[in-house]
Amino acid sequence: MGKVLVTGGAGFIGSHLVESLLEDGREVVVFDNFSTGKMENLPKDTRLTVLKGDVGKKEKVVNLFGSFDFDTVFHLAAVASVAKSVENPEETHRANFDGTMYLLDCCVKFSVSRFIFASSAAVYGDLPGLPKKENDPVKPQTPYAVDKYASERYVLNAFALYGLKTSALRFFNVFGQRQDPSSPYSGVISIFVDRALRFLNGEDVEITIFGDGKQTRDFVYVKDVVKALLLVEKSKTAYGKVFNTGTGKETSLLDLLEYIENITGKIPPVKFAPPRKGDIKHSCADISMLKELGFSPQFSVEEGLRVFF
Ligand code: NAD
Ligand code: UD1
Repeated sequence: MGKVLVTGGAGFIGSHLVESLLEDGREVVVFDNFSTGKMENLPKDTRLTVLKGDVGKKEKVVNLFGSFDFDTVFHLAAVASVAKSVENPEETHRANFDGTMYLLDCCVKFSVSRFIFASSAAVYGDLPGLPKKENDPVKPQTPYAVDKYASERYVLNAFALYGLKTSALRFFNVFGQRQDPSSPYSGVISIFVDRALRFLNGEDVEITIFGDGKQTRDFVYVKDVVKALLLVEKSKTAYGKVFNTGTGKETSLLDLLEYIENITGKIPPVKFAPPRKGDIKHSCADISMLKELGFSPQFSVEEGLRVFF
């Protein structure tokens, strides 16, 4: 059996996926430029090879495929921040779109058997109607969402056009351990939890809510996302298809703060700022397609939050 390539494997979701693949006894190669990923996210394991490289550099990707015999590729490398893509669309496009093209091309040329792509709920944009089904209209309204949608289409079409067994998962808002809170662009739960922990430690910190806090997201725990990735990988009916990956439940930012306060007893002062450009008001997944493959989320937001405190 060939090796499994995980691009972006040193990042938040990627490192949890790598852990599960190693537990399953598989040999894994991580390819990551460490822009947000960290070496310490990854376990030491003789079956794990970690390489530094940029998916947006074609020659590096070609060299990678020339050096290893991959049978499966999980493509997670991307600039994950929507806000960053609005500020710097050219740079994020190289990682989020060009990288997908180079990988797909190599997978076809080097006869890789399976390709799984991390797409995003951001493709739905702010069109009315929740929960979102996979065949609902899309409205990608940020560079991040446009790149994810275009990548996703190339990925899915590669099954019909070149016989590459592809699937994509539209992750909703993933949270859990190792999500890096250090940038203002980080996932909102990682930021709120970080501020709450520091406040408990006596630090003078505050929480910023962009907008009125009534915006909602479908927050899904990272371990559930890894389960979904592995279920889709193994499913022969999943080729050429995209799967919403969430819980089917909406939670507002104000709800999040209430849950954190219920756990910790107190939260930092909250400041309200104008909404971010391109921000979506409400988001929630219809997960019937994934359920048909046997998926059922194990963690609610409140259960997932408890793990941090
Ligand atoms: P993350 O930032 O922790 O992980 C991304 C990883 O990709 C990092 O290790 C980073 O160093 C690496 N990377 C970035 N650009 C790269 C490049 N050009 N070449 C090689 N490596 C590169 O973010 P995450 O939350 O773990 O996101 C993983 C994937 O899931 C991304 O594709 C993201 O768009 C997607 N996604 C995440 C969420 C979420 O809520 N976290 C939701 C939807 C989709
Ligand atoms: C997130 C993911 C993105 C993914 C998308 C899928 C990250 C960094 N982004 O984007 O990769 O494709 O889900 O749905 O993982 N907010 C605050 N205060 C803060 C930080 C954020 O109010 O300190 C607000 C934002 O304005 C937004 C909401 O919280 O309204 C969620 O923001 P964020 O966690 O960045 O997620 P998305 O933009 O939904």
